Amino acid sequence: MDTQSPGFGGAEAEAEARTLDAADPGHRHLFLVPPAEGGRYPEVAYLAGNSLGLQPRATREELLADLDAWRRLGVEGHLEAERPWLPYHELLTAPAARLVGARPAETVVMNSLTVNLHLLMVSFYRPAGERTRIVIEDSAFPSDSYAVRSQARFHGLDPDTAVVRLRPRPGEDTLRTQDVLDFLAAEGHTVALLLLGGVNYLTGELMDIPAITAAGRAAGAVVGWDLAHAAGNVPLALHDWDVDFAAWCSYKYLNSGPGALGGVFVHERHLGDPALPRFEGWWSTDAATRFEMTPVSRPPATVDAWQISNPPIFAMGPVRTSLELFDSVGMPALRERSLRLTGYLERLLDEVTADRPLTVVTPRDPARRGCQLSVRIGGGSANELTKRLRHEHGVIADAREPDIVRFAPVPLYSTYHDCWRVADALAATVEVNR
Ligand SMILES: Cc1ncc(COP(=O)(O)O)c(C=O)c1O
Repeated sequence: MDTQSPGFGGAEAEAEARTLDAADPGHRHLFLVPPAEGGRYPEVAYLAGNSLGLQPRATREELLADLDAWRRLGVEGHLEAERPWLPYHELLTAPAARLVGARPAETVVMNSLTVNLHLLMVSFYRPAGERTRIVIEDSAFPSDSYAVRSQARFHGLDPDTAVVRLRPRPGEDTLRTQDVLDFLAAEGHTVALLLLGGVNYLTGELMDIPAITAAGRAAGAVVGWDLAHAAGNVPLALHDWDVDFAAWCSYKYLNSGPGALGGVFVHERHLGDPALPRFEGWWSTDAATRFEMTPVSRPPATVDAWQISNPPIFAMGPVRTSLELFDSVGMPALRERSLRLTGYLERLLDEVTADRPLTVVTPRDPARRGCQLSVRIGGGSANELTKRLRHEHGVIADAREPDIVRFAPVPLYSTYHDCWRVADALAATVEVNR
């Protein structure tokens, strides 16, 4: 419940947020923001786009058009729909490639993130001799940890020794690039696969992807990246950075809906390599000969060879709509706004956290983070605080127990006023130190 008091920083602080919004409005008008259902403001302050992005207004129309094609055309929609279903996934290839700095042949949208990580590890985790280890960060998202451990077991290895977890230095929250490089220089000869999060899901730390990729590859390892929290959040140049492979989801910054399809990148030096093992299905074979129904596949020399099944068209539509939006706004402009908006939230959090048991654990250097700021709460529960922010102030953030609350001002649709509401809600909810 919001009171009618002037709030954090007084009326001037709130007015400043409104002024900044007028000057730097972003693209909120293209999105549907959940209503607040009571309280002082009509909409929630939505800071959870790092978990699930908001719905673009265009998505419903586009989905309805695809549904309508099915109603009108039945099976003939495969060839005769306005956007024929057989080659539908190709509509997503070029915009996805632009988003991550890849060539179209290197990019495909398919499946979910963890499924794709497994399919990529089938090809790129090939333990041999003393080179058997998979390196992840200790604070990797649990799904990645489970995936790499199960891959180690699949190869008959003990996951407790095959999986190495890189930890920050004692007393620190984030990994230092130099420590990763030093580890690779010392132990890189034992590493088969380095698989890190481009932006860490918990701390919001943006890794130095080009430097770590170069060091990993120089050490003879394959380097893959989980870009769940990076795609649509920070500019990427996967081809130029020589990344071996990457995968991401589309339900966070790409706003394509819960459980949306993920994206995959495989560097062109691996495309068409007949020595790479790969799981196949009928969508792995060359589209031109797919319906010749031959018993042996003829995979194209593109990442499409990693596809297996025919794609779910109604799940592809929202990704296509979202990628069109990213194409029209452009990552450089989004990054600029992201730096302004996140910098503003950081300034407010500095004031709120100064005399409260709250610490921002995300790196202060804007070059080492995307738009997420993670706050550690001393002596309290992240879940409880997040619930109070939601129910007493209409601020939607997300909790990672035991003690991290994540706030993501998303440059497409978040506002300066949303950021002010975060500070206002935290100031009202968390008692000052005694
Ligand atoms: C970093 C990271 N990796 C993997 C996953 C799991 O994704 P999926 O359920 O699409 O496999 C998530 C989900 O939020 C994530 O944040």
